[in-house]
Amino acid sequence: MIASPSVAEPRVDGSPDAWPGAAWADEVRRLARRRGAVILAHNYQLPAIQDIADHTGDSLALSRIAAESDASTIVFCGVHFMAETAKILSPHKTVLIPDARAGCSLADSITADQLREWKAEYPDAVVVSYVNTTAAVKAETDICCTSSNAVEVVASIPADREVLFLPDQFLGAHVRRVLGRENMHVWAGECHVHAGINGATLTAKAEANPDAELFVHPECGCATSALYLAGTGAVPADRVKILSTGGMLDAARASQASSVLVATEIGMLHQLRKAAPEIDFRAVNDRASCRYMKMITPEKLLRALREGRDEVHVDPELAARGRAAVQRMIEIGQPGGGE
Ligand code: 13P
Ligand code: SF4
Repeated sequence: MIASPSVAEPRVDGSPDAWPGAAWADEVRRLARRRGAVILAHNYQLPAIQDIADHTGDSLALSRIAAESDASTIVFCGVHFMAETAKILSPHKTVLIPDARAGCSLADSITADQLREWKAEYPDAVVVSYVNTTAAVKAETDICCTSSNAVEVVASIPADREVLFLPDQFLGAHVRRVLGRENMHVWAGECHVHAGINGATLTAKAEANPDAELFVHPECGCATSALYLAGTGAVPADRVKILSTGGMLDAARASQASSVLVATEIGMLHQLRKAAPEIDFRAVNDRASCRYMKMITPEKLLRALREGRDEVHVDPELAARGRAAVQRMIEIGQPGGGE
């Protein structure tokens, strides 16, 4: 534990977007320097956490940074599977997450036992797991992917090989649609936040904002509806973009639109507004907040740096079995956006 001089506790006035103050920011930076720590934050984190981090980005970008960083400690402000992935890639580094209870409903939608049973039904299939999975599931996986590179990962598998894709049914449907691949079996898992952004809400918002572009995360229940709206001409096809969170940032920087409807977790709006302040970004569902992501608070980040907790451990045998799948993930596809 690193001792701190008497610094006022960060002031968070009840609003999740509140800026915790300059004393908090100075103390976070001082403690991070003393620990030799790099702070990584996912695009869904609270704005104060995104702004204090050394790097903010999508799952793929953060995995790559974690693998390449020469810092001895990684403080991962995100959910548990992300910190676990960093530990799998860098077993000799100390990986901290400010609250180890920050889970993921999507990662919980398949267990390693369920995957083993599924594999027994299709013994020759290649297993592609979304990075939103536990280390035990990664240990049973051939290649991991994120929403940034899921299409490229599946495209890298010979066309005659069957694919088991898990756990997200909406991302799986998106990959199957893009590649027109029939021999792909998709697990019926979902993220409770993205599944809640449904087609009816998206259609109503698109009708009320006829000039807006639509940025839709492929985990959303409404991704199919977005493409349907484009197919019927209700929204011009070039205004509908199915994108990872990092891809949304790249698209925002390139966009000429004056308004964009955003179908993903609402933490994303902070980076989008910073990337393109002239665009009016609106959430398709402004209650789409991930309670797990929001468990990482300014106070807990400070505690992580002061007390070295919560440290993330991955069973070395599981990590060794999952490492090749994660390494293939970070090698495939464009540099993850969001940085
Ligand atoms: P990306 O950052 O890869 O787009 O993932 C979104 C997500 O839901 C992470 O939990
Ligand atoms: Fe998991 Fe969904 Fe939260 Fe992402 S938004 S961490 S997929 S529960």
